[in-house]
Amino acid sequence: MFDQPNAAPENARTDDPEASKPGAPAPCGTAALIDVARYPIHDLDGPGGRALLARCRTALEREGCVVLRDFVRPDALARMTEEGRARVDKAHFNRTRTNPYSSEADPSLPSGHPVNRFLERTNGFVAGDLLEPETAMRRLYHDESLRGFIARCMGVERLYEYADPLAGLVVNVLRPGCQHPWHFDNNDFIVSLLTQAPESGGLFEYCPGLRSADDQNIAGVKGVLQGDREPVTSLQLRPGDLQVFYGRNSLHRVTKVEGPRERHTLILGYTDAPGQIADAARTKRLFGRIHDAHREAEAAGRTRDSVDA
Ligand SMILES: [Fe+2]
Repeated sequence: MFDQPNAAPENARTDDPEASKPGAPAPCGTAALIDVARYPIHDLDGPGGRALLARCRTALEREGCVVLRDFVRPDALARMTEEGRARVDKAHFNRTRTNPYSSEADPSLPSGHPVNRFLERTNGFVAGDLLEPETAMRRLYHDESLRGFIARCMGVERLYEYADPLAGLVVNVLRPGCQHPWHFDNNDFIVSLLTQAPESGGLFEYCPGLRSADDQNIAGVKGVLQGDREPVTSLQLRPGDLQVFYGRNSLHRVTKVEGPRERHTLILGYTDAPGQIADAARTKRLFGRIHDAHREAEAAGRTRDSVDA
């Protein structure tokens, strides 16, 4: 396919002509991981699949966010939760201060301007090369039905696995006291699955469409940073919930994790073009190391923004 050290074999059912017909059974791998009775992602042209797609598209158009509750089967979720816990001691942690734009400060602007408002961000990433092919996490990521479903939700012809050997699939770890403060993403969308919820805090909050390509809405951003709750939607995500979120123009955050239990989120990286890899400097900062693939991709101009929330 393309340069992707961690790519799993393509789903053997992909070329099966029966697989694309309405009413076809879900591939065994998909049905073992996902509640396909509730979410018939393998049968998107059947009545259940059409209704699911319509619901997801409407939510994405209106809110830039859709949450599919209990998307992953309980037994698969239990495995994923354990897989995350078993690797958390290998997470690379970063502590930094960031503004909503993940940019530098601008001394020519007032101190109260959002670009000059920096808050602490701390999180850890378990890198993709620590999630072996046999893990439930990785099998979910490589599931063809899931990737096809997300593409159709988004109205794009197809999505590709993020070819980055470290950032393609990661577990985002927020320890007690960690937060990801208000920010906009530099990539268009994120697909994530909570695998372990904290006892309290760690809420995902967002302001749908707070800015646009034509209007930065600095006053609105400043208002939210100062505590305006009017544009804010707060989500109590539960383990097993799949979330698709457009973060480029919707200010969002994860509130501080409270209590002794960490917040773990599996982030499934997909791209609209094949073969993309994060740049080496950012990768080094996020993961503490790089692969040869990063050096090669940078030389070939195939880099893109890496994981975010
Ligand atoms: Fe984000």
